[in-house]
Amino acid sequence: MNKKGILALGLSTMMLFSMVGCSSGGGKGDSAELPKIGATVYKADDNFISSVARELKTNAEGVAELTVDDSQNDQAKQLDQIDTMITKGAKVLAINLVDPKAAESVIEKAEAADLPVIFFNKEPDADALASYDKAYYVGTDSKESGVMQGEVIAKQWEANKEKWDKNGDGKIQYVMIKGEPGHPDAEARTEWSVKTLNEKGIETEELAIDTGMWDAAKATEKMDAWLAKFGDKIEFVICNNDGMASGAVASLEKEGYFKGDKFMPVVGVDAIPEIVTLIEEGKVTGTVLNDAKNQAKAVIDLSLNLANGKDPVEGTDWKLDDNKALRVSYVGITKDNLDDAK
Ligand code: BGC
Ligand code: CA
Repeated sequence: MNKKGILALGLSTMMLFSMVGCSSGGGKGDSAELPKIGATVYKADDNFISSVARELKTNAEGVAELTVDDSQNDQAKQLDQIDTMITKGAKVLAINLVDPKAAESVIEKAEAADLPVIFFNKEPDADALASYDKAYYVGTDSKESGVMQGEVIAKQWEANKEKWDKNGDGKIQYVMIKGEPGHPDAEARTEWSVKTLNEKGIETEELAIDTGMWDAAKATEKMDAWLAKFGDKIEFVICNNDGMASGAVASLEKEGYFKGDKFMPVVGVDAIPEIVTLIEEGKVTGTVLNDAKNQAKAVIDLSLNLANGKDPVEGTDWKLDDNKALRVSYVGITKDNLDDAK
């Protein structure tokens, strides 16, 4: 090959390389171009939150570069994770707070980097949300879950009270397994489940209340102790979530419940797959669907819009309220409408 030939070959090879570079840079769906969303969950082994995390990933597929960090129930660790996300170029932060009171610290970081932040599942105070125009909340109306749980209990109690009112005094003697104290969902469910019963004219007596921290194993321990203390004086087990309801069922099964005539009504909130099975088996009487799928979808929809500098709900059916909060509805679930949960 002469000099001219070598030069021509060199040139065409160079052109080829630059074309390859071009096509890989301009391709649709190229991950280098997808907006980075930095998400955290307060604790990855929480029953409900693990479904939300899975749904976040499903919704982000092909449209965003999503990372989901596990804050392992440690607020300081979460704040460090947020620093790292910002350094790595996140365009939006999606934060499931460990401590609902820590919203201000997160907002400080987001504001300093001029980034939008979407809180989800653990609702920050309205004041905190109002303090930064790029702060949003995606979750539910906590009170609604308590009211619906009360309605589920009322309906079932009315239909079965001949059998379930064991001491025949017309009142429900209940034990309450509460979620994390100070968590808006835990506080509202505890208050409104019972208030709703009372407003419907059903009298109640609280035998015991304690926190199970949303956790099945902790709920089993509580229930073991209460069964030893109160036995069949307990007429209803009200749990702030399904994880703890399944923990209570495990304790009751050890004591021979759900065999023959030995029965105890148990209710939860969330409608996780495990509880759907327990409802089918007649070991849980009802729950309230906490819609992980739509909450996760809303987080990703809003994130994409914000990453592209658009209005957060542009091109979607979502609505924000006056506090910049988006609330997905709950649904009361019993054996009669189990398909809604599935
Ligand atoms: C869910 C609980 C969960 C908690 C975590 C609540 O909305 O019902 O199951 O443990 O959120 O923050
Ligand atoms: Ca009674």
